[in-house]
Amino acid sequence: MTVVPDGLCSVAEVDNLDKLLDKPPKLRVNIDRQRSCDERSLSSELVTNGTARMSGLDAPGAPFAAGIDSHPYVVEAWAALRHSMVYFRGQPVGTIAASDNTEENLNYDQVFVRDFIPSGLAFLMHKEPEVVKNFILKTLRLQSWEKKIDRFHLGEGVMPASFKVLHDPVRNYETLMADFGESAIGRVAPVDSGFWWIILLRAYTKSTGDTSLAELPECQKGMRLILSLCLSEGFDTFPTLLCADGCCMIDRRMGVYGYPIEIQALFFMALRCALVLLKQDEEGKEFMERIVKRLHALSYHMRSYFWLDLKQLNDIYRYKTEEYSHTAVNKFNVMPDSLPEWIFDFMPSRGGYFIGNVSPARMDFRWFCLGNCVAILSSLATPEQSTAIMDLIEARWEELVGEMPLKVCYPAIESHEWKIITGCDPKNTRWSYHNGGSWPVLLWLLTAACIKTGRPHIARRAVELAESRLIKDSWPEYYDGKLGRYVGKQARKHQTWSVAGYLVAKLMLEDPSYLGMVALEEDRHVKPVLKRSNSWTC
Ligand code: GLC
Repeated sequence: MTVVPDGLCSVAEVDNLDKLLDKPPKLRVNIDRQRSCDERSLSSELVTNGTARMSGLDAPGAPFAAGIDSHPYVVEAWAALRHSMVYFRGQPVGTIAASDNTEENLNYDQVFVRDFIPSGLAFLMHKEPEVVKNFILKTLRLQSWEKKIDRFHLGEGVMPASFKVLHDPVRNYETLMADFGESAIGRVAPVDSGFWWIILLRAYTKSTGDTSLAELPECQKGMRLILSLCLSEGFDTFPTLLCADGCCMIDRRMGVYGYPIEIQALFFMALRCALVLLKQDEEGKEFMERIVKRLHALSYHMRSYFWLDLKQLNDIYRYKTEEYSHTAVNKFNVMPDSLPEWIFDFMPSRGGYFIGNVSPARMDFRWFCLGNCVAILSSLATPEQSTAIMDLIEARWEELVGEMPLKVCYPAIESHEWKIITGCDPKNTRWSYHNGGSWPVLLWLLTAACIKTGRPHIARRAVELAESRLIKDSWPEYYDGKLGRYVGKQARKHQTWSVAGYLVAKLMLEDPSYLGMVALEEDRHVKPVLKRSNSWTC
């Protein structure tokens, strides 16, 4: 064990999941107290690698970089973001999904948990943490509501997809109304909300240096309730989380049921954040042990079975089927004939990615942006895999970025496949919306991933492509077409997370130290088990 001067643990120890499990309780208390181990190391690592300027990382109160504050697009974006602020009894509690008066509101007049993440990050980066704190506490209160769909009760830990402030003009009184999936299209509960909530709590703690919010008994309990939902034992044979279709950003039927990459990557990230935020009391410790075990199994599973590069693709192409017992190579009995035609051209010689889904006899080879970026940020991807993901984005720039960053998934599904997979969804026709549409909000995730992998120039290129059009088109929710040339068929204008995603990307490029809010350092002790091609080792 390396003893650091102040008597607290070294980063390697925090990251050593194996060892952490074996440590006596006393030592674990020390580890818990050293909350910023990972942060400090990230700072020095990036500085040594020369990949990012980490000036503000260790200094939560570092001054805001004034440089871009006067940039005309940034000024406009801030005005739009402030305009989207939602107040509850006089306090800011979130941002509205879209302020588009030309379209029917549906639920776009609500504060969505997932949509608020880039807004919250922008406010944290701007040293305005109040709205984030309020949001965290308000959504926590909503979590404790009794949640019921028809006659069925949802798990206690479920966080809302969205909420709304209702004003009673007679009593002049405001109340909150939340949706846990019981009003959503398809009646699906948002699995991602709880994970984003934990990730935002860590971002708040990290950027403000204020640990008192996370330490509140109600925050600790809220976290444990979320974790209980996904760490409970059942019939699972995989460490990944089994989900219904449409339980995340893609909140409609799109063939993302099973084990979607978006949820698995967010699950991994939230587990790692919780490990830092949980207190070392009796209950906290029990959860930490379960988390450590799960992280271990989850990273093995994802890195082994979700990873695809040229070598692995070729292996699948040559797979034998109907294998049985422990010696099976093709463990999930995937039929080589199920490999889609497009994948052979799409896969570059150098590069790779985590595929969309892996379950018995099913590999969804589609590329999903959010899952792959979060895999980089959480270090679910090894450094070699992170490099490979970025290599792929560069090699397939036209397909994934085109004229508007960034494809939510690639490629689109069409014709018969579209009918079967989406159930003939007219909103998700080919190259539109969730089906291969381009979402400006994803800019912040791309930028963070670019900075973490030392390629900020890629993000800069993407931001430059987007900014003038975003303003001209009034911040659309998404763009359509293979290259993202058209404002989306049913896209809302003045979509808040398009504004916030752009702002966060700009702010991080200006001061890469903000990366620390949303990135976790590599866990050096969970090594990849399978080395599959050169793209891993280059
Ligand atoms: C759409 C998106 C969803 C988002 C919501 C509000 O339904 O698919 O991810 O949270 O709009 O913007």
